[in-house]
Amino acid sequence: MATTSGACLPLLLLLLSPLIISSYSAAAAAAEAEAEQPVQVHGLLLSFKDSLHDPAGALATWSSSTPYCNWSHVTCTDSSSASSPVAVSLQLQGLGLSGDINATALCRVPGLAGLRLASNAFNQTVPLQLSRCASLASLNLSSGAFWGPLPEQLAALASLTSLDLSGNDIEGTVPPGLAALRGLQVLNLRGNRLSGVLHPALFRNLTSLHYLDLSGNQFLESQLPPELGGMASLRWLFLQGSGFSGEIPETFLGLEQLEALDLSMNSLTGAVPPGFGLKFQKLLSLDLSRNGFSGPFPNGVDKCLMLQRFEVQGNAFTGELPAGLWSLPDLQVIRAENNRFSGRLPEFPGGVSRLEQVQVDNNSFSGAIPQSIGLIRTMYRFSASLNELNGSLPDNLCDSPAMSIINISHNAISGSIPDFNNCKRLVSLSLSGNGLTGTIPASLGDLPVLTYIDLSSNGLTGAIPAELQNLKLALLNVSYNRLSGRVPPELVSGLPAVFLEGNPGLCGPGLPSDCDAPLRKHQGLALAATVASLVTGLALLAVGVFAVCRRIHGNRSSSPWKLVLFHPIKITGEDLFAAFHDKNVIGRGAFGKVHLIELQDGQKVAVKRLFSSGKLTFREVKNEMKALAKIRHKNVAKIAGFCYSEGEVSVIYEYFQRGSLQDMICAPKFAVGWNDRLKIALGVAQGLAYLHHDYTPRMLHRDLKSSNVLLADEFEPRVAGFGIHRVVGEKAYRSSLDSDLNDKCYIAPEQNFTKNPTNLMDVYSFGVILLELVTGRPAEQPASKDCSDIVSWVRRRINLIDGASQILDPSIPRTEQQGMKAALELAVGCTSVKPDQRPDMYEVVRSLQAL
Ligand SMILES: *[C@@H]1O[C@H](CO)[C@@H](O)[C@H](O)[C@H]1NC(C)=O
Ligand SMILES: *[C@@H]1O[C@H](CO)[C@@H](O)[C@H](O)[C@H]1NC(C)=O
Ligand SMILES: *[C@@H]1O[C@H](CO)[C@@H](O)[C@H](O)[C@H]1NC(C)=O
Ligand SMILES: *[C@@H]1O[C@H](CO)[C@@H](O)[C@H](O)[C@H]1NC(C)=O
Ligand SMILES: *[C@@H]1O[C@H](CO)[C@@H](O)[C@H](O)[C@H]1NC(C)=O
Ligand SMILES: *[C@@H]1O[C@H](CO)[C@@H](O)[C@H](O)[C@H]1NC(C)=O
Ligand SMILES: *[C@@H]1O[C@H](CO)[C@@H](O)[C@H](O)[C@H]1NC(C)=O
Ligand SMILES: *[C@@H]1O[C@H](CO)[C@@H](O)[C@H](O)[C@H]1NC(C)=O
Ligand SMILES: *[C@@H]1O[C@H](CO)[C@@H](O)[C@H](O)[C@H]1NC(C)=O
Repeated sequence: MATTSGACLPLLLLLLSPLIISSYSAAAAAAEAEAEQPVQVHGLLLSFKDSLHDPAGALATWSSSTPYCNWSHVTCTDSSSASSPVAVSLQLQGLGLSGDINATALCRVPGLAGLRLASNAFNQTVPLQLSRCASLASLNLSSGAFWGPLPEQLAALASLTSLDLSGNDIEGTVPPGLAALRGLQVLNLRGNRLSGVLHPALFRNLTSLHYLDLSGNQFLESQLPPELGGMASLRWLFLQGSGFSGEIPETFLGLEQLEALDLSMNSLTGAVPPGFGLKFQKLLSLDLSRNGFSGPFPNGVDKCLMLQRFEVQGNAFTGELPAGLWSLPDLQVIRAENNRFSGRLPEFPGGVSRLEQVQVDNNSFSGAIPQSIGLIRTMYRFSASLNELNGSLPDNLCDSPAMSIINISHNAISGSIPDFNNCKRLVSLSLSGNGLTGTIPASLGDLPVLTYIDLSSNGLTGAIPAELQNLKLALLNVSYNRLSGRVPPELVSGLPAVFLEGNPGLCGPGLPSDCDAPLRKHQGLALAATVASLVTGLALLAVGVFAVCRRIHGNRSSSPWKLVLFHPIKITGEDLFAAFHDKNVIGRGAFGKVHLIELQDGQKVAVKRLFSSGKLTFREVKNEMKALAKIRHKNVAKIAGFCYSEGEVSVIYEYFQRGSLQDMICAPKFAVGWNDRLKIALGVAQGLAYLHHDYTPRMLHRDLKSSNVLLADEFEPRVAGFGIHRVVGEKAYRSSLDSDLNDKCYIAPEQNFTKNPTNLMDVYSFGVILLELVTGRPAEQPASKDCSDIVSWVRRRINLIDGASQILDPSIPRTEQQGMKAALELAVGCTSVKPDQRPDMYEVVRSLQAL
């Protein structure tokens, strides 16, 4: 496609340009403005509207009886231009629009200055006729499902200052003709399929540019154009993951206004030029990670006094890190792992440093661990594994109130493990592969959130302290030390024996030496169980059980609400509130109840009420809901609309007679055959893969559980309940995760200590659902004696000789066992404690399809 249109585009441009010039000379525009306002403009905008498919009726207010400046999504501002006193801007992002844009009509609107069609579903090429919008200053087609070439005709938009085509499927080369856009300040082409070499002429003229993003165009094959260095106003330069090779041109050293530079994930090589950094007085963020850079890192970076993030990991840098780097006043992140840096880690100015993360694993750093790390109040993660550090562990190592992750494994640290009394936030402690001696301090058992402990391969002696039973451990590896004595009973039943091996002096059930053996009956478990997160706490009532709950609002008439529908269903706000009885509650979660409501025409909808403590305004909620409602996939439940009133949002979903997967699993008899279970699993996986990988912007579910899997006819599943965090706000969402009402067993263990949620957390939740399907048991098993959640239940059995047959649902005929075993294996992979060992949803879909 790129080649054929490439040949005829210039011709078209020639044909068009006289037209543009003649009809939009200033005088003509002025005359037109007189004549066209207001009636003509109405007509033009309505022609434009008619060309669109507007499933949610977002443009319903566009009618000839109101002034167009009052229409929704239309903004009018006084313009400085005499020819069209009013500047018009259309903000049509995120409305689910599609259709053949009538750009001819649109571009005749005088004073059209802004056009934002971002986050829609156009599924078409970038309309060539947009090049006639002569007064356009800002064009934003980001994530609009546009494809095809980047039309050179856009070069005719002489007033353009901002062009955003990011997140589409635009392919072919970047046309050099765009260099004619001399006033351009923002150019964002991120995340497309642009290819080929960047023409040097392209950037020579774009001297006003201050934001340039070409990242995520993996088919580009360019060197970094030296001309970029001539764009003296450049403040943000994003070129990551776009196939760049060669060295950093010297000209880059002169980009004095730079605030962010990201060259990561390319194939750049050679040394970083000397002098790099000396002039970057405003640089906040530098990312050169995952390239092939070598040689020492230039010292000039000491002079980047505003630097917050320094990321150079995954290169072949040698020598010492610049000495001044460590004391830059605003620096928060140093990532230099997987290089060949050497020398000592310097002491930092502890009291003033703002460092949060230092990752220098897999280098050749030597000498002692800096004493000052514990003095940095903001320090959250220190990892320096696989180096040559020696000396002992500083007593104050985790005195920082934020310290969560320490990894000093595989160094030459000696001495004993100090009492870490202040580590209230410590989650993960890895000290394996050192020369540590002495005992394991009992005080580790007092650290409230400690979850991973790896002390393997040291010279530790004495017993394993019973206090460690206080922790909710996901991993305790003490193998290959010189420990002795009885292993505390909860640890021996909760952990696989391999975590204890290589300590001949240890005894207990399941170990070669079993002390005096009163606990023999646990032997099987000790061998079988893999990592178990011993979730205690309240046994929870499963969703789907009718809940008795007090009414929240007494006097409804005083609280006004706003109802927004994306699909034509017959319901009013009054109907909705009137129907909020406890008797039609069909589900209950951490955010509120789910009601089943029958409409006047017999149709049914499920309404999820979110009592958010979040403070999102109606507008914000509306924007988020629209983004969610736009998602179209056969395995994703449609959002029909929502109702907003202060402190409460009710989301209206399509409903299916069969109810949710959880209803089925919790029914007295879960009588669904293996093929249909597989169909459910595959559907859920496909829906989730769509959210994670295919939908732009990518979306995490973050609350996947079987009560959020609705079943349509033929067991076709629809995933519901996604993206709630976007509606209630992150803070309220997080706190609800801790609520007792939440279904905790679907939550990945790393949730507690990861700042940013990842798709792999959803994969974990999916794995739990898959386990439910394979075992026929609900995820939460309050009545079960040995374990309250399904992941631990399965892990305790899986390595037993006859484990699989204990796990697989006995109601399914044995002929299906092979498929079920494969699904079980997949589910175990998805629920791995270590996120990086889980497959992504694409892989899951492929594996399930193979079954
Ligand atoms: C249009 O908006 C203006 C300003 O908000 C308002 O004064 C006027 O009444 C509105 N006109 C109509 C017909 O809604
Ligand atoms: C676009 O709008 C113009 C002006 O209203 C109209 O004449 C033309 O037929 C429309 N084009 C298409 C393809 O609908
Ligand atoms: C885009 O349109 C083409 C045909 O015009 C169709 O085959 C394809 O499925 C559409 N894609 C989407 C995502 O709607
Ligand atoms: C384009 O629109 C998207 C979605 O509304 C927005 O996030 C982005 O910042 C806009 N781009 C520019 C350059 O304003
Ligand atoms: C760049 O600007 C010069 C004038 O400053 C002009 O002659 C040249 O055509 C422009 N290049 C492009 C590719 O537009
Ligand atoms: C250590 O870094 C080198 C690159 O310097 C890399 O090739 C190697 O895989 C890394 N080792 C580990 C264990 O990550
Ligand atoms: C640590 O290693 C350095 C050499 O890298 C050596 O000079 C020093 O004596 C060692 N310190 C200890 C305590 O072993
Ligand atoms: C600690 O570092 C080692 C070696 O780099 C790595 O294999 C291990 O996964 C790390 N542990 C944690 C908990 O991150
Ligand atoms: C436990 O430590 C030993 C020795 O370092 C190692 O071989 C083993 O892989 C570790 N197990 C896990 C699950 O980390």
